[in-house]
Amino acid sequence: GGGAHPPQPDYSFTGMFGSFDRAELQRGLQVYTGVCAACHGLDLVRFRELEALGYSEDQIKAFAATYSVEDGPNEDGDMYDRPGEPKDRFPAPFPNVQAAAASNGGKAPPDLSLIVKNRAHGLGSIGLNFVDMLKGGEFATGAAYVSALLGHGYVEEPTMADKMSCLAANPGESHEAYEARLEEFEVPAGGHFNKWFPGCAIKMPNPLYEDAVEYADGTPATPEQMAHDVSVFLTWASEPTLEARKEMGIKALLFLIVFTGILIAVKRNIWRNVK
Ligand code: HEM
Repeated sequence: GGGAHPPQPDYSFTGMFGSFDRAELQRGLQVYTGVCAACHGLDLVRFRELEALGYSEDQIKAFAATYSVEDGPNEDGDMYDRPGEPKDRFPAPFPNVQAAAASNGGKAPPDLSLIVKNRAHGLGSIGLNFVDMLKGGEFATGAAYVSALLGHGYVEEPTMADKMSCLAANPGESHEAYEARLEEFEVPAGGHFNKWFPGCAIKMPNPLYEDAVEYADGTPATPEQMAHDVSVFLTWASEPTLEARKEMGIKALLFLIVFTGILIAVKRNIWRNVK
C-alpha cells in the first residue's frame, strides 16, 4: 500500500469538448487573492489575462489598481511604487526566496502559476499517457491533487489509512516494518499532517476554513468548495490556452473527416473506368 491517489473530481475542462466554468474561475480567483496570495506568487499571470475569466477591461483596470507594483528605475535611477496596471503581473508576496522561506518555517511557498502542471502525474516517467491525453484530462490529476490537499488533506488525528496515503512502503520493507513506521510517524515540529502531501508533513498551515472568503456570487464558501474553485483557477493559470487547444483539435478532426471524404471521391473518380 501507500502512495494512494486523491479522488478525481468531475472537472468541466476535461474531455474533448471541455471548457472552463467562468463562475468557478471567478470564485477561484477570489480564493487565490483572498487567501493564497498572502504566501504564494502567481508570477506568470498578468492582470489583463483575467479577461478570459469574464471580466471587462474596466473591471480589470480597477482590480489591478488595488495592487502596488514596483517600477523603475526612473531618471534618478530609483525604483518606485505605483498602482498596478493591466499589463502588470501579480506582485510576489515576498521580495525573494530567502525571505519567503524565513517567513514559512524554512520552506518557501512555491509560485502557483504552473503548480497544476507540475503536480500532474500520468505524464511523467514513461512519457505521455496517451489515454489521459485522449480524454483531455492531462491536468485533471494535478488539479485533483491541489483540490484534495486543501479541501480534505489536513487531518487532526490521522488514522493508519490516512498515513498510508502519504507514506509509501519502501521497496523490500516488510509489512510489519511498514506498519511500525506508520504507527510511530509523527509530524516534526513546525509541520502539519496532510494526508495527500508526499511524506505527510507539510509546512503550509491549513489555509482554508469556513467562509475564508465571501463569494461575490453568494456560493457558500466551504473549504471543499474553495479548494475546488482554486484548483480550477490554477488549472487555467497553468494552461490559459486549454480551450483554444481543444477547439483546434476538433477543427483538425473535422478537417480529417472532410479530407477523407474528398480522397474517397477522388479515388473513385480516378479509377472509374478501370474494370
Ligand atoms: C505549498 C497551494 C495558501 C504556505 C503549497 C503547495 C500548493 C499550495 C499546491 C505545494 C504542495 C506540493 O509541494 O506538492 C496553496 C493554495 C493556497 C495556499 C491553493 C490558498 C488556498 C497558503 C498560505 C500559506 C502557504 C496562506 C502561508 C501561510 C505554503 C508553504 C508551502 C506551500 C510554506 C511549502 C510546503 C512544504 O513544502 O512543506 N501550497 N497554498 N500556502 N504553501 Fe500553500
